[in-house]
Amino acid sequence: MESTYFKRFRMEVDIVAARSAIGIPDGYRLVPWNDSLLEIHARTKHRSFRDEIDSMVFPCLGDAEGCRRLMQEIRLKPGFLADATWLISWGHSPEELQWCGTIQGITDRSGMGSIQNIGVVPGHRGRGLGTVLIERAILGFLAHGMRKASLEVTADNQAAVRLYRRLGFRKYSTVYKVSEPVSSEPACL
Ligand SMILES: CC(C)(COP(=O)(O)OP(=O)(O)OC[C@H]1O[C@@H](n2cnc3c(N)ncnc32)[C@H](O)[C@@H]1OP(=O)(O)O)[C@@H](O)C(=O)NCCC(=O)NCCS
Repeated sequence: MESTYFKRFRMEVDIVAARSAIGIPDGYRLVPWNDSLLEIHARTKHRSFRDEIDSMVFPCLGDAEGCRRLMQEIRLKPGFLADATWLISWGHSPEELQWCGTIQGITDRSGMGSIQNIGVVPGHRGRGLGTVLIERAILGFLAHGMRKASLEVTADNQAAVRLYRRLGFRKYSTVYKVSEPVSSEPACL
């Protein structure tokens, strides 16, 4: 089987101590991490990524079970940071409830904050939710004394690259990722 290579940027931002929380649009609610939400993070991740370029780069993102395994792996990482891990919901009543966005953060081996996956489901994009999720994750890193945050993004994912640049992230290095079959994919970002 032929391998496909995807160009990806590693981007970093300096976290300035004065950073403050950005307000969330009306009708939406930020939901902090607790272990009972793992399944909801996985489902929201799957709905955010399944039709996007990253599900070619990381086939687990296009697969519900792959997203569940990935969430379990992120949760078990030694640097998992509940304060940088958030969901966004929408709806005024339990009947209306929709899960719209997810982000997870960890402390990496160098002590830097690392965003693992951020996803907003298609019907709720372009309303500032991606911005709110990143800002919240960064505030979580800041609360744990971190002064830099990083992430990786597929170079062709223009919406995501624009979002990160707008929030101050700058390209630090370029890496090439070989896409692998879903069954052998241990982790995504
Ligand atoms: C990348 C992603 C997370 C962005 O989420 P989002 O909620 O659309 O992000 P935002 O709404 O904060 O920003 C998107 C755009 O909406 C604009 N926007 C923000 N608030 C807005 C508002 N209230 N009204 C109109 N536009 C608004 C932003 O300026 C931004 O414009 P730009 O594309 O010119 O930069 C989303 O597209 C996604 O989930 N993609 C699939 C998964 C993925 O690729 N994730 C990234 C992996 S690295």
